Amino acid sequence: MFQPFVFLLLSSLWSWSAAQTFTGPEDPRISIELELQTPSQGISITADGRIFVAYTYVDGTSGGPQVVEYNKTTNTSTPYPNEAWNTYSAGDDVATHFIGVNAQRIGPDGNLWIVDKGATGIGEPVLLPDGPKVVVVNVTTNEVARVYEMGNVTRINSFMDDIRFNPAAGMAYLTDAGSAGLIVLDLETGDAVRVLNDALSTHEYMPVSAEGSILYNQGKPFYFYADQHEVSPDAEYYYFQPASGGMSRIPTKWMNAAFSNSSLNDNAILGQYVEPYAHTPATGGTAIDAEGNIYNSDTDSQRIIKIAPNGTMSLLVQDPRLLWVDAMWIDDQKRLWMPADQLNRGTPFHNGTSLITKPLYVFSIYIGVGPSPIDHA
Ligand SMILES: *[C@@H]1O[C@H](CO)[C@@H](O)[C@H](O)[C@H]1NC(C)=O
Ligand SMILES: *[C@@H]1O[C@H](CO)[C@@H](O)[C@H](O)[C@H]1NC(C)=O
Ligand SMILES: *[C@@H]1O[C@H](CO)[C@@H](O)[C@H](O)[C@H]1NC(C)=O
Ligand SMILES: *[C@@H]1O[C@H](CO)[C@@H](O)[C@H](O)[C@H]1NC(C)=O
Ligand SMILES: *[C@@H]1O[C@H](CO)[C@@H](O)[C@H](O)[C@H]1NC(C)=O
Ligand SMILES: *[C@@H]1O[C@H](CO)[C@@H](O)[C@H](O)[C@H]1NC(C)=O
Ligand SMILES: *[C@@H]1O[C@H](CO)[C@@H](O)[C@H](O)[C@H]1NC(C)=O
Repeated sequence: MFQPFVFLLLSSLWSWSAAQTFTGPEDPRISIELELQTPSQGISITADGRIFVAYTYVDGTSGGPQVVEYNKTTNTSTPYPNEAWNTYSAGDDVATHFIGVNAQRIGPDGNLWIVDKGATGIGEPVLLPDGPKVVVVNVTTNEVARVYEMGNVTRINSFMDDIRFNPAAGMAYLTDAGSAGLIVLDLETGDAVRVLNDALSTHEYMPVSAEGSILYNQGKPFYFYADQHEVSPDAEYYYFQPASGGMSRIPTKWMNAAFSNSSLNDNAILGQYVEPYAHTPATGGTAIDAEGNIYNSDTDSQRIIKIAPNGTMSLLVQDPRLLWVDAMWIDDQKRLWMPADQLNRGTPFHNGTSLITKPLYVFSIYIGVGPSPIDHA
C-alpha cells in the first residue's frame, strides 16, 4: 500500500520540477497586453504610459524597424525615434543606424536607452568600432540626446546584451553575452571598462536550454554568456548571470572601484567579491521590484520564478503560453509585463526555419509591488 503511494508522489513531484515543456493549465491571473506579429525581446513604458517595443526578426522576416513606439489604441507600431535610425543596409553609416538592437528601456532619468550590439544577427560579427553603441533618446523631444560608443570595450564576437543603472554613482553596467564579461560605463564621461572577462560567474559551461532542449546554432550548442542582470533598489548589489542560469552578485562599490583601479580589475581580485546568489534555471529575462525581488523567466518550464532579497526562490506563475519570456518590465500599476518571444523557436536555432506560432503576446500579471525607483522613471 505504502510503496505505490510514495512512487506516485515522487513521480508527480518530478513531473512538476523537471525541466520540460509545460503543457497546462493556463493561469487565469495572466492578461494579454499586446498582440504582436514580430517577436519582441523587450518592452518599456514611460511614467505617462507610452509603450516602446524592441523587435527581433528571428521569425524569418526582415527589414522592419528594431525599435518602435506602440499605440495600444490603434495597435500600430511607429519606428522610434524615427525611420532613419531604423533603416540600415550594408554600406550605411553604422554609427547613426541601429544595427542589431538587443535591449531598450526607460532609464531612471526618463530617457529611452537603446543597446545596439552592433551586429546584424545572432552569431554575426560585430561591426567595429562604430557599430556597438548605447543610444539615448529624449522621449519629450523624440530626438537622440547622446550616443555612447562602445567599440573600445566590445570585441568581434561580443553580444552587448543589456543595461542597468546606478544613478547615485553615475554608472551603468552592461552584460556581454558573446564575449563573456561585464562593462562598467561612466555616464558622464562615456569611458568604459570591461571586468570579469571569461570569469566563472559570467561564462557558462552548459549551453542555454528551452522547452527541455539545448539550443543549437549552425549545428553547434549555443551559449549566451553574461546576459540577465539587475541592481538592487538600494544600489548596494549588482546581480548578474549567464542565460543558462546560476545568478551571482557583487557589491556595486567593487564594480565602480574596478572602473578606476585597473589592478582591482583583475578576475582573481575582483572575483573575490563575487558570491553565488540563486541557483536560477535557464533564463530568458529578469526584472526587479521596489522591494528587491527579482523575477526570472524559466525558458525550460514556462514559469516565472521570484527571487527574494535573501536569494530564496519561489514560483510566481507557470503557464504554457510563457514561451521564452524575454526582458520583463514592472509598471507603476504593479504589473509584471512578460514578452513571450519564443526565441528558441526562431530561425537562428532551426537552421533558418522558424517554428514560432503567431500572433505573439506580451502578457502581464499583477505582482502587488511597483518597480525599483532607481530602475526606471
Ligand atoms: C494612439 O492613436 C490614437 C488614435 O490615432 C491617438 O489619439 C493617440 O494619441 C495615440 N497615442 C499615442 C501614445 O501615440
Ligand atoms: C488591439 O489588440 C487588442 C489585443 O489583441 C484587441 O483586443 C483590440 O481589439 C485591438 N484593437 C484594434 C483597434 O484593433
Ligand atoms: C528632454 O528634453 C526636454 C526639452 O528640451 C528637457 O526639458 C528635458 O529635461 C529632457 N529630458 C531629459 C531626461 O534630459
Ligand atoms: C577609445 O580608445 C582610444 C584609444 O585609447 C581613445 O582615443 C578614444 O577616446 C576611446 N573612445 C571612446 C569612445 O572611449
Ligand atoms: C542544422 O545544420 C547542421 C549543419 O550546419 C546540422 O548538423 C544539423 O543537424 C541541422 N539541424 C537541423 C535541426 O536540421
Ligand atoms: C587598487 O586595487 C588594489 C587591489 O585591490 C589595491 O591594492 C590598491 O590599494 C587599489 N588602489 C587604490 C588607489 O585604491
Ligand atoms: C528568505 O525570504 C523569504 C521571503 O521573504 C522567506 O520566506 C524565507 O523564510 C527567507 N529565508 C531565510 C533563510 O531567511
